[in-house]
Amino acid sequence: MVTSQPVSGVTAALDWVMDKSLVLGYTKVGPAVRRAWWPDDPEPGALTGRHVLVTGATGGLGLATAGGVARLGAVVHLTGRDASRLDRARATLLAQQPGATVETHVSDVSDLAATADFARDLAARVPRLHAVVHNAGVMPPRRTTTPEGHELALATHVLGPHVLTFGLRESLAGGRVVLVTSGGAYAQRLEVDDPEFTQGTYSGTAAYARTKRMQLVLTRLWARELSGDDVSVSSMHPGWADTPGVTDSLPGFARVTGPLLRDAEQGADTAVWLTATGDAIGTGGFWHDRRRRAAHYAPVRVETPGEIERFWAFVCESTGVPAPTG
Ligand SMILES: NC(=O)c1ccc[n+]([C@@H]2O[C@H](COP(=O)([O-])OP(=O)(O)OC[C@H]3O[C@@H](n4cnc5c(N)ncnc54)[C@H](OP(=O)(O)O)[C@@H]3O)[C@@H](O)[C@H]2O)c1
Repeated sequence: MVTSQPVSGVTAALDWVMDKSLVLGYTKVGPAVRRAWWPDDPEPGALTGRHVLVTGATGGLGLATAGGVARLGAVVHLTGRDASRLDRARATLLAQQPGATVETHVSDVSDLAATADFARDLAARVPRLHAVVHNAGVMPPRRTTTPEGHELALATHVLGPHVLTFGLRESLAGGRVVLVTSGGAYAQRLEVDDPEFTQGTYSGTAAYARTKRMQLVLTRLWARELSGDDVSVSSMHPGWADTPGVTDSLPGFARVTGPLLRDAEQGADTAVWLTATGDAIGTGGFWHDRRRRAAHYAPVRVETPGEIERFWAFVCESTGVPAPTG
């Protein structure tokens, strides 16, 4: 077991102030300061021979996460929607780490039927999966529905990952699930009345933040449902990192924050750490910069137990997973 730096009351308070200030915590200032007290790196070779699946790994944080776990010895499985982008990502990783084992899979996580098939095929080929990192993300500029009829951000961030996690359930026994969510979740409460965003004026940033809030709730629900399989489920947010997602979807934000943005490796750090650390991370936690964080800040209210169960029923009914019993 790797030992972690003790976090004193002073550093805990400083860390909290940085988090609340956003700019200090979310930019590259965050890891530069916090590494003085955050837990140790995973042991070299911590993932040797273990299989790790990273969704949305053709660029940005997904590619950086794949690079981070490969560096620790993992056999990495990358997914994305386009074979040539996947080939480029694999070539990038192999150029950085010639000895790495990298497999690619064309898989659109917003397509629930195809995701169920992908999970079945992967489970047949890789009976023991150490971890899945749900990283694939989108911020649709206008309301878009998938061919199966689901709003795209919901399908990509919530429904597809749910199908994938439960499709891989047996392979993941004793392993880990990491959801890459966003600090944007703090801005939204759990939307249970209209999860498909059919009412009001659609906005991509609102749909994104709503579904990122759903991911936080899903983390706790998956932790509950998968505890019997000894699966550790965590979510993390990366802060603000310089990726194609940020520069393409939020060009104004990227311009203003540009010099302060984290690089992709800094953004991916906590996802890699959660995948590989020997420290006791428990299950159901929300993390940022290797530290558990509150899931809510006022004035956004905490969801009620009734809302959480309604949300769970919605996710299970929309995906047919887990299959109803009886
Ligand atoms: N960058 C940040 O500052 C930041 C902040 C908060 C949260 N995040 C979260 O971090 C994650 C990665 O963000 P990023 O900034 O690296 O984004 P990005 O540069 O846009 O990369 C997104 C990745 O997701 C893949 N993807 C999108 N839709 C997919 C689908 N339906 N199925 C499979 N793969 C899909 C893309 O691959 P293809 O297009 O090749 O399919 C790409 O590899 C997202 O979940 C995002 O919400 C990022």
